[in-house]
Amino acid sequence: MELYTEGKKVIKRILFIDDEQRILDSLARMLRGMHGEWEMRFVNSVDRALEVMSEWEVDAVVSDVKMPGKDGFDFLRLHRENDRVSDVPVLILTGCGERGMKREALDLGATDLLGKPVDREELVARIKSILRLKAYQDKIKQDRETLEERVSQRTAELERSRVEMIWRLGKAGEFRDTDTGNHVVRVGYYSLELANVLGLGADIARNIFITAPLHDLGKIATPDSILLKPGKLTPQEWSVMKQHTRIGAEILRSNVFGSGRSEVLGDVLFTSESRIFENDALTEMGASIALNHHEQWSGGGYPNGLKGEEIPIEARIVSLADVFDALCSKRSYKPALAEDEVLSIMRGGVGTQFDPEAFDAFERSLDAFRQIAGEFADHGDEGGSKAWWGLGAA
Ligand SMILES: [Fe+2]
Ligand SMILES: [Fe+2]
Repeated sequence: MELYTEGKKVIKRILFIDDEQRILDSLARMLRGMHGEWEMRFVNSVDRALEVMSEWEVDAVVSDVKMPGKDGFDFLRLHRENDRVSDVPVLILTGCGERGMKREALDLGATDLLGKPVDREELVARIKSILRLKAYQDKIKQDRETLEERVSQRTAELERSRVEMIWRLGKAGEFRDTDTGNHVVRVGYYSLELANVLGLGADIARNIFITAPLHDLGKIATPDSILLKPGKLTPQEWSVMKQHTRIGAEILRSNVFGSGRSEVLGDVLFTSESRIFENDALTEMGASIALNHHEQWSGGGYPNGLKGEEIPIEARIVSLADVFDALCSKRSYKPALAEDEVLSIMRGGVGTQFDPEAFDAFERSLDAFRQIAGEFADHGDEGGSKAWWGLGAA
């Protein structure tokens, strides 16, 4: 919109419209002295003016009213309808017999009016005044755009840091029983892949991705003697172990700031309603995954023995991702299994342990799974070595 010459000088662009060449010539003569400050173009029809404005960014327009074909009012109408230029101010020149038209011109959005015959000093002053108005509007617009950009940048940063905190929480749960690093990360990406292949929709897929790493959060509360026991668990120990599902859901659903209290710290209000997630859908998704990821399709799982579609889809998905990853990974009590062995074990569980439809999606996603496994391989494994905090890109 503005031309910068050397230094800081700004050249403004002004377009004049009048059907009478004689008047355009006289305006050009009158304003010759403004050449250092203004770049001016003179056209003799509205159509030509619109053409010029489509390729030449103007800062102000000075237009006659009475013209054959499209007149000054038509110009004002077309000008205001065009979002790209509608904030460019328009000074309307009215003849002495056209006083009644002033009101109409203002109603149509003219910025200012000036009667003919035009006095040079007054014309220059009016043009300068509408240019100042335009500069002021431009500044406000630019400030607003900068602010909007900052707000959306800040929102994205907050979103990234919240997801990172959630995944670090999942990581903390995992730390108790694996010395490897990337199980929860792989489960997050595998689950996202399955949610997408099953066509669950972007919002649900995103929520599954964010909260799948929390599936074993409840293991934080499982005693070492059980969690790290090398041998078989006794029935009593097994029932303690199973509690990690309920505990994980409880950690996520309970309020964290104490019931009945509220505190304002800085600009932020903390209440008993506050959660680590931005909304209840995400909280519920995390809790549902933690609670149900050991349920089995035929009803033989825990903690509630749910069957088939009673088991929330997010839990059926995470269960597949979790088992696949556990079988593929080395643990203190077992070696990493080869892929065909993993697949044959898992196929044996279709319809009993696993949802057949989700399993079908899993088989169709194997290429993506292999790639994720390679990208987030644990230390000492074959394959890639992307750090788990590579999540930042998500
Ligand atoms: Fe678990
Ligand atoms: Fe797991």
